Amino acid sequence: MPIHATHAMFPDANHDEQARQDFVRLFKLSVQRDIGSGNRRLYEGTVKPAFERANGRAPKNRREIREAMAANPYNQMWSALLRTSQEMLYDIVGPSIERQLPELLGRAKKFSGKLGSLELDPGLEIPSYHAAVNIHCKPGGYHSELTKDDVFAGAEYDRTVHMYLMGSMGPNNDDFGVSAARWVKKTYPNLRVKRVLDMGCTIGHSTLAWCDEFPDAEIHAIDVAAPCLRYAHARANAMGKTAHFHQMNAERTAFPDGHFDVVVSHIMMHETSTKALPRIYKECHRLLRQGGVMMHVDARFKTGNLFDQYQQEWDAHYNNEPFFGTLHDTDLIKAARVAGFAKDKAFETFIPGHYRPSKGTEHAINEQMTRHYFMLGAQK
Ligand SMILES: C[S@@+](CC[C@H](N)C(=O)[O-])C[C@H]1O[C@@H](n2cnc3c(N)ncnc32)[C@H](O)[C@@H]1O
Repeated sequence: MPIHATHAMFPDANHDEQARQDFVRLFKLSVQRDIGSGNRRLYEGTVKPAFERANGRAPKNRREIREAMAANPYNQMWSALLRTSQEMLYDIVGPSIERQLPELLGRAKKFSGKLGSLELDPGLEIPSYHAAVNIHCKPGGYHSELTKDDVFAGAEYDRTVHMYLMGSMGPNNDDFGVSAARWVKKTYPNLRVKRVLDMGCTIGHSTLAWCDEFPDAEIHAIDVAAPCLRYAHARANAMGKTAHFHQMNAERTAFPDGHFDVVVSHIMMHETSTKALPRIYKECHRLLRQGGVMMHVDARFKTGNLFDQYQQEWDAHYNNEPFFGTLHDTDLIKAARVAGFAKDKAFETFIPGHYRPSKGTEHAINEQMTRHYFMLGAQK
């Protein structure tokens, strides 16, 4: 059963490409389920007792656990295989997208310009936190261009993200968007939502959920990455949805003050930086009208258990997600206050995930991930 819904912009995979992609997805699943699950037993039964014997106390933070685990061969094997699975995602999908790139460029042209809009800014400076690192091992990140009017990075993302998340975000990979939009509707039934801004939209997976949940609202979405935005616009058109995509940096956009009723991001903040976060919060405050709502759905340790925290922080150290751990440690309520939101209007919560993988399917491995998403919110 395919783990992704298809649409007219979705890149194809021939027989051999599909077989390789299925292998990588199932390989990752097996590394996580069959090998990764042994890590906790290893820690409790071997690594922690050894640490206690050597230090006369238990590890006091996730860094000490990471250092102790990193010396263990079983953990090294798990970590190396997981990193390999990530590199394989791109090694396998990249050539398949390159093979069909001329055709995808043609399809993007055909679908563009009918519904919504696309506004690119070739002069936009790519933030250093994207230019300096191949984020989660994606070669060239989201922004690099291989050719004129490129859509490579977006098309590659559309296939790899389903494999990376093992299908846990639903067939349209939009569960963050659906869940956030439904949450705001339910929590603020009297909020008049005429204009929404989705920051860090990539190819619009979550953006289009806002189109569905608020059909009378104007939905805008920004990203710094042109090849993703071109693909996003063509994909939205191919799916018959109207959204407005702009190439802008969330730290300083070109929209007027008080322009939006909701400003939201879905898993963007952990891919920014210590300096960018306060600027983005400040920009959200500027962009919201009085009474408008800021929402940042992202990673946050769901437990005080240090071993869980160590496991959840793996990406920061081994998957080129350098800000991932720091975001967990940042006082976000304070950051919202500094950005201008009143103290009693800023909050942290876990919003319920909407998508439920069918029991017994391979996607069900990530049920725990899909149940609740951390969100920093604030009302202006
Ligand atoms: C993990 S992806 C987000 C996925 C997307 N929101 C979704 O729900 O499908 C992170 C995105 O944030 C974008 N991004 C990171 N920093 C940004 C910034 N300062 N301004 C705009 N976009 C940014 C990246 O280019 C990337 O496309």
